[in-house]
Amino acid sequence: MAITIKSEREIELMREAGKILSKVHDILAKEVKPGVSTWHIDKVGKEAIYDFGCKPSFLGYDGYPASICVSVNDEVIHGIPSKTRILKEGDIVSLDAGVIYKGYQSDAARTHACGEISARAKELIEVTRQSFFEGIKFAREGNHLFDISAAVEDCVTPHGFTCVRDFVGHGIGTEMHEEPQIPNYHQKRRGPKLYAGMTLAIEPMVNIGRPDVVWMDDDWTIVTEDGSLSAHYENTILITKGDPEILSLVPPSTL
Ligand code: MF3
Ligand code: CO
Repeated sequence: MAITIKSEREIELMREAGKILSKVHDILAKEVKPGVSTWHIDKVGKEAIYDFGCKPSFLGYDGYPASICVSVNDEVIHGIPSKTRILKEGDIVSLDAGVIYKGYQSDAARTHACGEISARAKELIEVTRQSFFEGIKFAREGNHLFDISAAVEDCVTPHGFTCVRDFVGHGIGTEMHEEPQIPNYHQKRRGPKLYAGMTLAIEPMVNIGRPDVVWMDDDWTIVTEDGSLSAHYENTILITKGDPEILSLVPPSTL
């Protein structure tokens, strides 16, 4: 399937989905503190998503058992919430959430500090977020997709961090995962041309150590192979004739 161009009506629905998801992340951010279980974070997220009149897109996706992916420390993505996983001071906690509003999807992730964290961990979280913003500078009609990929990696590398290569961003719309795939590292080609009306989930996953990741026995959780910390930041964005619009980060949210 080709990359879909959304109509003005579809864009309006994706704006609404994104606005709700932005609020869900604001609610979840307040729950990240020492002593809280990752199950509790999922519960709060799931209830908020339903309260806003949406469906959690992750719940049951390929059999995923929760609404929010909660990935702690060396867990990169797809951590499964659990009543026995209790957050502690110094943890870094990636929260990935997706909502469906009237058939349209939004997908976004944030990484939070749990209490006081190390300076290097703080730098990892900030650079991961910053790399998204460097990437979307190139998310403009007439540019090529992999201009975004290169800008993300170029932001990360000077800090000694690495971008995960085995997982990528994606187009999004009526499906959570649409074409194209969006790598977070340099490509040999420039990739497809960008046009107004494309909606993309750009999601750098950044490791302090090596980029290699492995699958855990629960068949979901992805961890860094070397055990180093990993952060994740993601937004659903819209390509326009001018500046890109970040659909899943809406004022007054600043996350
Ligand atoms: N947000 C993830 C992504 O971008 C999806 C989570 S996987 C799921 O691909 F199974 F939890 F849905
Ligand atoms: Co995504």
